[in-house]
This record gives sequence, structure tokens and C-alpha cells, in this order.
Amino acid sequence: MEDTTRLNESKLGTKKYWDDFYSVERVNFKENPEDTGECWFEDNGAEEGMVNFIVENLNEFNNKESSVIDLGTGNGHLLFELYENDFEANMLGVDYSAESVQFATDIAKAKEYPVKFTQADIFDSNWTPGEFDIVADKGTLDAIALSGLTVGENNQSVVEVYHSVIEKILKKNGTFLITSCNFTEEELIRIITKGQLAVSETIEYPVFEFGGVKGSTICSVAFVKK
Ligand SMILES: C[S@@+](CC[C@H](N)C(=O)[O-])C[C@H]1O[C@@H](n2cnc3c(N)ncnc32)[C@H](O)[C@@H]1O
Repeated sequence: MEDTTRLNESKLGTKKYWDDFYSVERVNFKENPEDTGECWFEDNGAEEGMVNFIVENLNEFNNKESSVIDLGTGNGHLLFELYENDFEANMLGVDYSAESVQFATDIAKAKEYPVKFTQADIFDSNWTPGEFDIVADKGTLDAIALSGLTVGENNQSVVEVYHSVIEKILKKNGTFLITSCNFTEEELIRIITKGQLAVSETIEYPVFEFGGVKGSTICSVAFVKK
């Protein structure tokens, strides 16, 4: 059977692309502090969907002792939205692009939001940020899948080992929430549930129909660590 979780390589899978991208966004922000950059999947309502899901369904983590990490945080917008929605957990955004981390830090400083950012490649085995109650991914696995990179002695694809990165940094009974535009719900579930993670819920988005085939342009799925 064809492995539909293998995507063709693209420049969106390179660190250089994201460094250049966020370097431009930083300049724009310096010139216009209202311009906090592109919000991935905004048109599809995905960020709103993810924030609402966390605020409404993961309320047990809405306190200063809990923690959220956003993988491939970009401009940090998802975490800023959570903060603006009175979510009180400690928030950390991680990205391998130093430009992204600087950009998101600049925005947090300007807005005086207590959100922290750090630079790391999430596949680096030396990266041990601790364990979090909520791990979020908005469009990051999509970008990772376009890198064509492999890790470890067995040359496993980064998509294949992605679930083990989540398992390493998610607390038991914690939630991993991911939104993707490159993978279907079924593919995401196949990629993520290879070890300790089990599906808990999916977020519904408007469905389009083309040529008699029904589909959604994006999907968000929540998983719980057993
Ligand atoms: C499609 S963008 C999404 C950014 C952000 N989550 C958003 O919704 O706006 C993908 C992000 O993942 C980051 N990224 C890609 N591979 C990464 C890796 N191996 N480790 C950490 N960050 C990575 C990129 O630098 C980029 O910021």
C-alpha cells in the first residue's frame, strides 16, 4: 500500500526558508508594531478552534502550575491568543529558527505578555525541555514533513519519529493538539498513535465537496498520553 504520509520535499521544509520568512516579519513589525505577522490557518478558523478547544476542554490545566508548549511556534500567535483568552498556564514556544524566536520574543516584550520562547530543533536528542500538560502543533508537522530529513542510526524519517518527540515532552494524561493541512485526520492518527498516544477528540471544520468527494481543508486532532 502506498505510504501517503510521505510528502515531496519543498523549501517550506528548510530552516533557511523560515529564517528568511521571520526575518522579513521582524522588520515589518519594527516598522509597524500592529503587524505581528502571518497567522497560519487563520482563514480556516484553526487557531480559534485550537484556542477554544484548550480553553473549554482542557480547563483543568488553566492554572499557574500547568504548562503549554507550542512546537514550531513561528510568531507565537497561538500562545498569545491563549493568554488573551485568560489561559493562565506557563507558556513556552519553541522553534529552530532564531529569527522566529527573536520575533516572538519582541512581540511578547512589546505586549508585556509573560510568554517565553526558546530556540531548539525538536528532533535534537539533547533537547530535554521537561514535560508539559499540553503540547500544541499548528502547521509544524506539515513543514517538517516537507523536509525529507531522517534521524538516528536507522535513518527513520522525521515524520516516523515525530510521535516519540511528543511522548518525551508530554506528561501522562496530558493532551497533544495538532492542526494540519497536509495530512488527513486518518493519516494524522496513523502517524501519532504508534506508541503511548491515543485519540481523544477531533475539532470539526466546515466540509467542502468537490466532484462528489467530501473533504476538509484542515483537521485538528487531540491525543492523550496513556
Ligand atoms: C508552517 S510554520 C507554522 C508556525 C506557527 N506554528 C503558526 O501557526 O504560525 C512551521 C514552523 O515550524 C518551525 N519548524 C520546522 N521544523 C522545526 C524543527 N525541527 N524544530 C523546531 N521548529 C521547527 C519553522 O521554523 C516554522 O516556524
